[in-house]
Amino acid sequence: MINISGAGHYTLGEWPVCRMGYGAMQLAGPGVFGPPKDPAMARRVLEGAIEAGVDHIDTSDFYGPHITNQLIREALHPYPDQLHIVTKVSARRDEKGAWLPALSPEELTRAVEDNLRHLGLETLEVVNLRSMIDPHGPAEGSLEAPWTTLLELKERGLIRHLGLSNVTATQVREAQKSGDVACVQNQYNLAQRQDDALIDALAGQNIPYVPFFPLGGFTPLQSDALDEVAARIEATPMQVALAWLLQRSPNILLIPGTSTLSHLEENLDAANLVLPHSELAVLDRIYRSEEGDRPWTGHGV
Ligand SMILES: NC(=O)c1ccc[n+]([C@@H]2O[C@H](COP(=O)([O-])OP(=O)(O)OC[C@H]3O[C@@H](n4cnc5c(N)ncnc54)[C@H](OP(=O)(O)O)[C@@H]3O)[C@@H](O)[C@H]2O)c1
Repeated sequence: MINISGAGHYTLGEWPVCRMGYGAMQLAGPGVFGPPKDPAMARRVLEGAIEAGVDHIDTSDFYGPHITNQLIREALHPYPDQLHIVTKVSARRDEKGAWLPALSPEELTRAVEDNLRHLGLETLEVVNLRSMIDPHGPAEGSLEAPWTTLLELKERGLIRHLGLSNVTATQVREAQKSGDVACVQNQYNLAQRQDDALIDALAGQNIPYVPFFPLGGFTPLQSDALDEVAARIEATPMQVALAWLLQRSPNILLIPGTSTLSHLEENLDAANLVLPHSELAVLDRIYRSEEGDRPWTGHGV
């Protein structure tokens, strides 16, 4: 039985959650579109996560679309009291699976209602507004209009907390002028560390930072240095990548994604891995060697 308590806890919204969670995006079919090849395995992955103590699952109704939320409901409803499901809005899929912005008040309201219905919930505990100004990465521009719509849906009691995704530090500050930001979910991992300064700024405000693509996303991380560290400490490269994130900052909450039980178990077990300073220093240099300058100076070693 895997025990994930080694990851510790951090407050998300109003709840202390285990820092080792699960991201459900990989449960849909290829390209996050359509049903999975093996729906029974998808449900077993979700059940396995809960059995191991995962209390934070990340999802969206645009995964599938609808499929991932329906799988979560089928596998886990009625939900354990301690489970916190975080969803995101601002996109829709066309009939070929393309991701299109869906940010009008009507579209955002429909997305919140769809999430509620497909997950079988009366209130969404955390909804992330995902910026679509540039779908591929954070880009400046005001998010005031969609943020205001979501604040109104929160006022109506459909949402408990709001977060942001794919955003810049400026957009976080803009949102905070009119409401609390419960979490920020951006791309970040050993090799993609453009958010180093943002992570530290959020930590100073006790706001969780939830890296998406913690393992590199659809093409998992490949690095000789990562492989060498993993071999030296007798762990797998993916476990080392997750443990590095856990040791990067206490406000980081992990949501690694997988569609298989064996990868789930491997990933969750990283909660118990403590990387020595000498290996952290090697891993810290992966980004420096690939990306040049950056603001963060490593794990203090
Ligand atoms: N806000 C956003 O814009 C956004 C964007 C993307 C994702 N997300 C969220 O972030 C979560 C995490 O991102 P992600 O799932 O896309 O990427 P990820 O966690 O970085 O990696 C998932 C990929 O790694 C593979 N994998 C997982 N565990 C592995 C292991 N132990 N060994 C080898 N390969 C392994 C998976 O394949 P298998 O299925 O074969 O294990 C899958 O291809 C998502 O589930 C989603 O909830 C948010």
